[in-house]
Amino acid sequence: MVKLGVNIDHVATIRQARGGKEPDPVTAAALAEQAGADSITVHLREDRRHINDRDVEVLSRTIKTRMNLEMAATEEMKKIALDILPHSVCLVPEKREELTTEGGLDVVKQKKDLQEYVKALMEQNIIVSLFIDPSVEQVKAAYETGVEFIELHTGRYAELFDTKKEDEAFKELEEAAKLANKLGLKVNAGHGLNYWNVKRILTIPFLYELNIGHTIISRAVFTGMEKAVRDMKDILIL
Ligand code: PXP
Repeated sequence: MVKLGVNIDHVATIRQARGGKEPDPVTAAALAEQAGADSITVHLREDRRHINDRDVEVLSRTIKTRMNLEMAATEEMKKIALDILPHSVCLVPEKREELTTEGGLDVVKQKKDLQEYVKALMEQNIIVSLFIDPSVEQVKAAYETGVEFIELHTGRYAELFDTKKEDEAFKELEEAAKLANKLGLKVNAGHGLNYWNVKRILTIPFLYELNIGHTIISRAVFTGMEKAVRDMKDILIL
């Protein structure tokens, strides 16, 4: 069975809209674990737009499953990871102006730097994954960095889902997963997956874990709406 990593960044996005304390992503992580999440993913961005340093620190002590820390391959983030020692780190590219992670890491271009970067993390027993686009060149380059895992970027497939180009995007993922498996890499995938497009993803062989965030938090808003309104009404009639 494919494992589910729940990305709770967007709980923090709602908190940051007011700059207060609620909703707390730490509570979201505990509830996700109670519901069966196999791991919790947080992306500590350079600009701290959602998850912040306090969240990462508290989560590193309270997550009972596995903590997967998404981060850019910078010196600042390396220091934090070596201090926190999450179960795993997923290295992602990061642009300040983007709304969300837009593409995969260009491992081909940064192979030498990444080799050294991942070594420092792996020496401390942190499992390292590289978030890459599903291409032969990127999978091969990822393998050459010495990492144990890749995470295939499913954004293009998600965008093209239910269009004439869906098959093409899906086949890229399938081929990349097969090649990675042949090279001995373990394969995760994520970005843009939802309750509809995820079903076909499950037919990809050798998948270990899917990291899913936005669609789960979006659904949680609606599945919790009625109770939240009733709870407030109960107070108002007191
Ligand atoms: N995997 C990676 C590497 C990501 O950057 C993200 C988004 O932060 C996700 C998975 C989850 O994507 P989504 O929120 O679209 O489910």
